[in-house]
Amino acid sequence: MEAAVNVNGQLFDARSAVISVFDHGFLYGEGIYETLRTYNREPFLFDRHMRRLRNSAARIELRVPLSDAQFMTRIRDTMEAAGFQEETYTRILLTRGVGELTYDPAACPNASVVVIVKRHVAPSTDAFERGVMISLVSVMRNHPGSVDPIIKSNNLLNNALAMQEAFRNGGDEALMRNYRGELSECSQSNVFIVKNGAVLTPRLDAGLLDGITRDFVLEISCEVGIPTAEAILHDEDLFGADEAFITSTTREVMPVVRVDAHSIGTGRPGLVTLKLLDTYRRKADELTRRAAQRV
Ligand SMILES: Cc1ncc(COP(=O)(O)O)c(C=O)c1O
Repeated sequence: MEAAVNVNGQLFDARSAVISVFDHGFLYGEGIYETLRTYNREPFLFDRHMRRLRNSAARIELRVPLSDAQFMTRIRDTMEAAGFQEETYTRILLTRGVGELTYDPAACPNASVVVIVKRHVAPSTDAFERGVMISLVSVMRNHPGSVDPIIKSNNLLNNALAMQEAFRNGGDEALMRNYRGELSECSQSNVFIVKNGAVLTPRLDAGLLDGITRDFVLEISCEVGIPTAEAILHDEDLFGADEAFITSTTREVMPVVRVDAHSIGTGRPGLVTLKLLDTYRRKADELTRRAAQRV
């Protein structure tokens, strides 16, 4: 694995980056994270990721030890150490830190901050042009009264179990329902459908991550005059949709043409989905070019 890693302010390569086994992130899964990517070698939507990181940290009573500017410096230092010429993927992890074996947060005075920078590996052109198959799995999304999916938590067993089922079914992504049987989100992305020209996605109270790409896509849909709504969606809505797509930082706007044995719409990426993908990429290019000029 090729990566540069910043552990609590110190730079390492992938082989030598380590964290204590007494870190409560390792012992109890107590931690949160963010995933960013660059366009034009500039982190995209950094402010939004920082806002979500702080919200996630507050939900688990974790003090964030760095300012946004300090996070940006760590990201840039780590990108520079990595020395990649290509676009990069950055994962920021913040864990409870090292302490005695107790759930008492007071046992861990210092949170651990890790920044991992790798090359960004984009999904294949084929996936964007032909669309992907996802699997509607039996694993239920965490109940918001348990580990609330709005927290971007390092505690990812729910997501991993869902994805294991999707792998067994040959799917590129796992779509989960919530405890009420409504569609919620995928293991690493948010889900959208298009019906009669309108873009619909499950409401946050279905229990899902407030995806940065989800929000951005809702905004750009409005800008280009496509009606959007957050709605309660069920299996039938998906199977009867004209188009479907998933969104995430790394997959952008990815057309979904099959859900297990069900073909969606024409079985090819739809016009609304392709327009949103194109608009998304143009905006990402524009915004990062502008940000790079300010640096
Ligand atoms: C469970 C889940 N939902 C949605 C997303 C998409 O979020 P974003 O658009 O902020 O990358 C992710 C991304 O990792 C995720 O893990």
